[in-house]
Amino acid sequence: MPLRTTSEAGVSIQGPTATLIDDDWYPALRTGALRTGKLKTAMLLDIPLVLGRRGDGRVFALRDSCPHRGIPLSVGWFDGKRVTCRYHGWEFEPCSGRCELIPSLTKIDKLDATRIYATAFRCEERDGHAWVFIPSPGSGKRSTGAEPPVPELAKFGPRYRTAHLWADLPCNVDHGIIGLMDPAHGPFVHQAWWWRSRASIREKTKKFEPIPEGFRMSAHAPSGNSVPYKLLGVYGQPVETTIDFVLPNRRTEQIRCGDKWFSSLTTVTPVTASTCRIDVIAAWNVFSWVPLVTPIAKFFGAKFVRQDQETMIQQAEGLRHNPSLMLIDDADKPAKWYFALKQARLDGTGKHPLSGPVELHWRS
Ligand code: FES
Ligand SMILES: [Fe+2]
Repeated sequence: MPLRTTSEAGVSIQGPTATLIDDDWYPALRTGALRTGKLKTAMLLDIPLVLGRRGDGRVFALRDSCPHRGIPLSVGWFDGKRVTCRYHGWEFEPCSGRCELIPSLTKIDKLDATRIYATAFRCEERDGHAWVFIPSPGSGKRSTGAEPPVPELAKFGPRYRTAHLWADLPCNVDHGIIGLMDPAHGPFVHQAWWWRSRASIREKTKKFEPIPEGFRMSAHAPSGNSVPYKLLGVYGQPVETTIDFVLPNRRTEQIRCGDKWFSSLTTVTPVTASTCRIDVIAAWNVFSWVPLVTPIAKFFGAKFVRQDQETMIQQAEGLRHNPSLMLIDDADKPAKWYFALKQARLDGTGKHPLSGPVELHWRS
């Protein structure tokens, strides 16, 4: 994913496909959809998956392909214990992928079915996501114990409400991610009385600092020009917000106001090399006294995500013709850091684009 400099002013970003980052966790689907005995399909990083929940509650993810002749395992059967291929009836234990029965074998056959495996991926349930670890090709399917921990939404107390929002985006994961961290589109894409208007644009100064494989917008008082943040003023306590971005695709936001808090984890997940999906999971204990707070939050959150989605659908129209693009300072600086972090991860150099805290300025 080389970055070509096209002019003093800008850096070109690449066309419709993106290099994907493996050896990490990605959310495949919502675990509420996984009922014992049912199989569900998902696509992650161009890999077709079949997911399910065993009778004992454990979730699993297999490559949706029988190792015998490649028919999708998802068209077969699942009894809560074993996945049975619909073609020749091979039976697989889905957490390990181990083949436990080949019905066609006779007593004189020497083949040991249990030495055959369907490709199983590590799969963990957190915050209602089925997280799947996608190893680099050829690294083997079993855990090495060196995987990063499963991502988790931060919570700051035992009682909270939650919501999940998502949208398919017709662009590659890089465009999805830089759209996510882009501060300058807010007043144009997200114009609404309840959020902010174009006329409310003002100059912002934000401090950033490096964190492992990412960067943090240091704790700050949030923008005074958007209504939800103004509403937090009712608590009469200082409001502080921290936003992190960490490879491969995670943005977390934490807003604290005394013992009131809001926390979100947004991921932009490559479905294929040219399409992605945005998921937002959130938990909060603010405004718990407001009736219908969850449907209200979901309504406005969904509107917000839809505005991004509509813009990216329009952008995808333009990107089809492979235009050369640019990233400008300072509003696109986080996007430049993202590309540099990603390149460092792919090259294995571990080089961080930030050597220390910096201040960025933009109008939004
Ligand atoms: S293709 Fe699956 S058992 Fe033959
Ligand atoms: Fe947006």
